[in-house]
Amino acid sequence: MIILGIETSCDETAVALLEHDGEKPRLLADLVASQVDLHARFGGVVPELASREHVRTLPPLVDQAMAEAGVRWSEIGRVAVTAGPGLMGALLVGVSYARGAAAVNGVPLVPIHHLEAHLLAPGLAEEGLPPFPFICLLVSGGHTMLVRVDGLGRYRVLGQTVDDAAGECFDKCARLLGCGYPGGPQIARMAQDGDASRFALPRPMLKRGLDFSFSGLKTAVMYAMKDGDFDMSERQCRLDMAAAIEAAIGDVLSIKAVRAARQQGVRHLVLAGGVAANRYLRERLHALAQSSGIRLVVPDLRHCTDNAAMVAHAAWLRCQARMRFPSAWDARARWELEHLERMQD
Ligand code: KG4
Ligand code: ZN
Repeated sequence: MIILGIETSCDETAVALLEHDGEKPRLLADLVASQVDLHARFGGVVPELASREHVRTLPPLVDQAMAEAGVRWSEIGRVAVTAGPGLMGALLVGVSYARGAAAVNGVPLVPIHHLEAHLLAPGLAEEGLPPFPFICLLVSGGHTMLVRVDGLGRYRVLGQTVDDAAGECFDKCARLLGCGYPGGPQIARMAQDGDASRFALPRPMLKRGLDFSFSGLKTAVMYAMKDGDFDMSERQCRLDMAAAIEAAIGDVLSIKAVRAARQQGVRHLVLAGGVAANRYLRERLHALAQSSGIRLVVPDLRHCTDNAAMVAHAAWLRCQARMRFPSAWDARARWELEHLERMQD
């Protein structure tokens, strides 16, 4: 059976075709049309523009995926679409298209939770998903949370951000440094040539529990940049600040993720979401986990940021486990991971 995956929850239009024969899923197509250039000049995602761009991009992207993979509609067994959480208008484009295409072609349609798709994404990599239970550090532009995963659909949030998400903090700090959008990858690029020790940035809430707070870090960056001791017009100074920001965010995330695994007595850790593409975070968490006897599993880089392969993959896992999908549902801007089966308010 081939699953068509569709993702339009934010600013990437994505389409994937996933085939599974036996144990391992195989990607026949995995396309992402990024809207980064469109939103860059506004310094962030403009929801209305995102929706319009999805309308324009999604139908030809599906055609392209089918053509490249040489797949016909008669071979598709399921259409899987991100139903939430995300930008309402953007979600509605994907859901409406998927609903229409599924109905016309007589294929069952399955709604997928965006965060569940992210946290199961390592299953697409060679190594595969670790055994349950595992702890997932889920870090994206809109979410930062530590989740205990006891099985498919069995998620317990152990801690989360009380204000900004880690990706949001990267993006806001990048704006202070005068970089474009999205800021995370830009800060990561600059940090490669920077010296993190030049700025002593705080590690917010490091000692306290499993929740996170990142809005104070952005303020600390702002004050450090105003400090007369540094000339922020100097390129090296900005590179050093980028490295300090990356280290502050990466340290807090890594220390708390390993703390969560130790507290729960769980030996497997998954790092997922857009910020999981950050190399410092991957390396720091890997080293910390290893020294605690915990195995870290991370998705391939292209499956950390938003994509449709993870949507088709989550649908495949749910089908394989013979889990039921709701018959009546709508796109949902807000949708708690812990109440995943509750599709309607
Ligand atoms: O998961 P994602 O693609 O979209 C959401 O669901 O939010 O995550 C996007 C976030 C953005 O904030 C972006 O700046 C951040 O992930 N990001 C990174 C890197 N690549 C993407 N942050 C730090 N380092 C990176 N290499
Ligand atoms: Zn995402």
